[in-house]
Amino acid sequence: MRVLGTSFHFLVSLYAFCLLQFVIVGVSPITEKEILLQFKGNISSDPSNILRSWDPSKSPCQDYSGVFCNSDGNVVRIVLWNTGLGGVLSPALSGLKSLRIITLYGNKFTGNVPVEYGEIETLWKINLSSNALSGSIPEFLGDLPNIRFLDLSRNGYTGEIPSALFKNCYKTRFVSFAHNNLSGLIPVSIGNCLNLEGIDLSFNALTGLLPLEVCSSPRMMYLSVRSNMLSGGVLEQVSKCGSLDLLDLGSNMFTGSAPFEVLGVPNLTYFNTSWNQFQGEIPDIGTCSGKLEVLDVSGNALYGEIPPSITKCNGLKYLDLGFNRLNGSIPVGISDLKNLLVIRLANNSIEGTIPTEFGSIEWLEVLDLHNLRLGGEIPYEITKCKFLLEMDFSGNSLEGGIPQNLDNMTYLVILDLHHNQLNGSIPLTIGNLFNIHSLDFSENLLSGPIPSSLGNLKNLTHFNVSYNNLSGVIPSIQNIQQFGFSAFFHNPGLCGAPLENSCSGVTATPVTRKPKLSASAIVAIVAAALIVTGVCIITVINIKARGRKREDETMIVESTPLASTESNVIIGKLVLFSKSLPSKYEDWEAGTKALLDKECLIGGGSIGTVYKTTFEGGIAIAVKKLETLGRIRNQDEFEHEIGRLGNLQHPNLVAVQGYYWSSSMQLILLEFVSKGNLYDNLHGLGYPGTSTGSGNPELNWSRRFQIAVGTARALAYLHHDCKPPVLHLNIKSTNILLDENYTAKLSDYGLGKLLPLLENYGFTKIHNAVGYIAPELAQSSRLSDKCDVYSFGVILLELVTGRKPVESAAANEVVILCEYVRSLIETGLASDCFDRSLRGFVENELIQVMRLGLICTSEMPSRRPSMAEVVQVLESIRNGSES
Ligand SMILES: *[C@@H]1O[C@H](CO)[C@@H](O)[C@H](O)[C@H]1NC(C)=O
Ligand SMILES: *[C@@H]1O[C@H](CO)[C@@H](O)[C@H](O)[C@H]1NC(C)=O
Ligand SMILES: *[C@@H]1O[C@H](CO)[C@@H](O)[C@H](O)[C@H]1NC(C)=O
Ligand SMILES: *[C@@H]1O[C@H](CO)[C@@H](O)[C@H](O)[C@H]1NC(C)=O
Ligand SMILES: *[C@@H]1O[C@H](CO)[C@@H](O)[C@H](O)[C@H]1NC(C)=O
Ligand SMILES: *[C@@H]1O[C@H](CO)[C@@H](O)[C@H](O)[C@H]1NC(C)=O
Ligand SMILES: *[C@@H]1O[C@H](CO)[C@@H](O)[C@H](O)[C@H]1NC(C)=O
Ligand SMILES: *[C@@H]1O[C@H](CO)[C@@H](O)[C@H](O)[C@H]1NC(C)=O
Ligand SMILES: *[C@@H]1O[C@H](CO)[C@@H](O)[C@H](O)[C@H]1NC(C)=O
Ligand SMILES: *[C@@H]1O[C@H](CO)[C@@H](O)[C@H](O)[C@H]1NC(C)=O
Repeated sequence: MRVLGTSFHFLVSLYAFCLLQFVIVGVSPITEKEILLQFKGNISSDPSNILRSWDPSKSPCQDYSGVFCNSDGNVVRIVLWNTGLGGVLSPALSGLKSLRIITLYGNKFTGNVPVEYGEIETLWKINLSSNALSGSIPEFLGDLPNIRFLDLSRNGYTGEIPSALFKNCYKTRFVSFAHNNLSGLIPVSIGNCLNLEGIDLSFNALTGLLPLEVCSSPRMMYLSVRSNMLSGGVLEQVSKCGSLDLLDLGSNMFTGSAPFEVLGVPNLTYFNTSWNQFQGEIPDIGTCSGKLEVLDVSGNALYGEIPPSITKCNGLKYLDLGFNRLNGSIPVGISDLKNLLVIRLANNSIEGTIPTEFGSIEWLEVLDLHNLRLGGEIPYEITKCKFLLEMDFSGNSLEGGIPQNLDNMTYLVILDLHHNQLNGSIPLTIGNLFNIHSLDFSENLLSGPIPSSLGNLKNLTHFNVSYNNLSGVIPSIQNIQQFGFSAFFHNPGLCGAPLENSCSGVTATPVTRKPKLSASAIVAIVAAALIVTGVCIITVINIKARGRKREDETMIVESTPLASTESNVIIGKLVLFSKSLPSKYEDWEAGTKALLDKECLIGGGSIGTVYKTTFEGGIAIAVKKLETLGRIRNQDEFEHEIGRLGNLQHPNLVAVQGYYWSSSMQLILLEFVSKGNLYDNLHGLGYPGTSTGSGNPELNWSRRFQIAVGTARALAYLHHDCKPPVLHLNIKSTNILLDENYTAKLSDYGLGKLLPLLENYGFTKIHNAVGYIAPELAQSSRLSDKCDVYSFGVILLELVTGRKPVESAAANEVVILCEYVRSLIETGLASDCFDRSLRGFVENELIQVMRLGLICTSEMPSRRPSMAEVVQVLESIRNGSES
């Protein structure tokens, strides 16, 4: 029995031992894998599929991406950054007993850090920056006995920073809660962190004082509280920070003296106390850190002179003393700071001259001296700063001329000299500043012409020479013309577009362009005519050339029949304004076949049918075949009318590329615009893919608004920039075409004379612009630009409401759009008019556009604004809602 008992006991022990072995050998690693798989289980989205490798059949330490183990096979680091992972942080991680580092920044984790993480005693570093965590800062993280680095920046944390967080933070070295929405005070318990090297609380809503304890740690190197609402003085607190590398107190409400003594801290590289309410003078600088690179005290109330001792900060790269009340003159010694890249002294009361020595700061990129009281001349030495990107001397009293050799600053992007007393002429060399984006010489005494070398500046986004004494013809180059009237006005001697005074005796752009002869195209157009008329005979043709003056612009081909005996004699003339159109016979032969093909029919209208024609090589144009000549009586008149249109160029006009005249047929060649007309896009008729009459869903409010602005600009151009003004008189949504970017392109402009005879205007049912026609035009044929304004107003209402200008709800009931909107607005129901298919718009914009539409459709023409005013109002609506 006993032996048996013993041996049984032995067997049981053996079994238990084996079992234990099994548990020790097999289960322990599986547990960490399971933990990781639970972590994965709480991840709801993994756009880059980074956790693909986290597979139950694989080994975490070897295969799982972002997982790192120690030599015992335990996970020590989880590093998955910028991978877009979404979901919650799994509490299971607390089971990883050797975990030291969690680096999960740049993901989309939501919720908060699970309380279980307070048990991971080994944790050393947590970086959860740039996630979507929320709630209050988890105070239990402060109890982690080994935590060194804690980064919860760029999340959605709210509430106060818990005081308990810094209860035992002896080992903590770096804490960041930047870019959250924290409020309340900075806890004084921060003083417990005696080894703290950095704290970043920037971009929150913290209030109160900077605690005295902030530099309790003698090792404090990085202190940023930028963009909070902290107040009070800082001198005492910061005086203890003897190891600072970076001090950023910018954009708070600190008062008293700025802590300039910190400049003497030997390792300081960055000092920013900008945009506070610091007062007093900049003291004489005794010692300055040789490592100091950034000194930014802008936007305070500092007064007195800039101390010459500032040159002791000889490593300075960035100096900003702007927006203070400094006076005196610019210390010449600043030019000894050879590392300077940026000097900003703007908006002070500094007098004197621009030191010529600035020219010796070899690497200078920004020199911003605007709104000072500087006089004297711009030193030509400044042009030695050949890496300068921005030069802003505006708002001073500088005299003399603009330096001639500006062009050796080839990198210049911004050149602003406006509001000075500069005289002389604009240097021709300006045209060599190829990188310039912004050029402002307005409000000076400049004379002479505007150099046409400005045409080289292709990247201009701001240009202004108004309020000077410039004279001569404004060069007709698009990249300066685009800035319109206001960029040039108040120069008594300037003339030509975009100003309204024409240049008597001088012509900027020749109105009539002399033709360039091309032989082949005539054959083609005749072929086209034959095809269209269904006569398939090709006649032998004699081509007659005309001399040419201007190259590349216009091509005219005239055809007269040879001594042909055929009865279908065709005498025609083709004029091409655009050089880009093909001029080979074969091209036209292929292209013109389209005119036979119903498939190519892309539109009709009050004056003709429009076909799309594609040439080999993919160039497409639209060909309008006129069905009426309206008031036009003969070929000369036709050519005169259409020839004028060839000179008009505006990004929101459908370009007229040529025409063809023969006694039996007239064609107008137009730029092809791909997305069809606004009417179809809004109301759906004929919009490809819809049979139900619903509009194009891509026509969102922002696009509609841009269409309104574009159309308005085109009309303003026709009314105000063209001499004589061009009236459209046939504005309707079918005449507003949309290109592939939904840019509006107005078509059928300048064809007023081709419209069906005016008497027909009275019968609005015949004219298919019904609903768009101004009442005075319908009643008395009084033509004025205000007729166009009326029609444009209807377009605005159409864009906002998505309704047609006239709808018949029931058999005998007709709803006139502007009357309908007016009645709804009067009863305060403006938003009832909005197009129901619109989403994601700023309601106020729609209401303002609608109001503008109603003003434009006033019964009295005199109440309607001009198109120039309409453009201004539209632009202000957008700017108003963007700011
Ligand atoms: C996280 O995963 C656990 C199971 O591992 C599950 O019980 C819990 O509901 C999950 N939480 C979320 C928010 O998905
Ligand atoms: C956390 O990650 C961000 C993003 O890379 C980094 O800028 C920050 O320095 C990291 N924080 C810590 C404490 O390492
Ligand atoms: C920040 O919190 C305040 C209230 O404390 C709140 O009004 C504000 O909307 C929050 N801002 C953000 C960006 O969450
Ligand atoms: C300055 O920096 C150096 C090197 O980073 C360091 O050794 C030194 O202790 C620092 N000095 C102070 C006063 O913090
Ligand atoms: C200094 O801080 C302000 C915010 O107050 C910031 O706009 C500016 O860019 C900072 N200056 C430098 C040189 O970083
Ligand atoms: C500068 O301003 C201070 C007071 O703000 C004044 O005492 C001083 O005379 C001024 N200096 C000059 C040169 O105007
Ligand atoms: C610029 O200085 C003037 C006084 O010279 C002051 O009135 C103005 O407010 C300052 N502008 C800014 C933005 O501080
Ligand atoms: C730019 O112009 C200045 C002044 O004439 C001249 O001294 C300098 O050598 C020029 N630099 C270059 C790169 O042409
Ligand atoms: C420009 O003005 C200065 C005085 O400010 C004068 O000496 C110079 O002659 C003027 N130059 C021209 C071209 O008018
Ligand atoms: C003009 O701007 C475009 C786009 O911003 C850029 O690619 C191009 O290099 C610029 N050209 C010049 C001459 O600066």
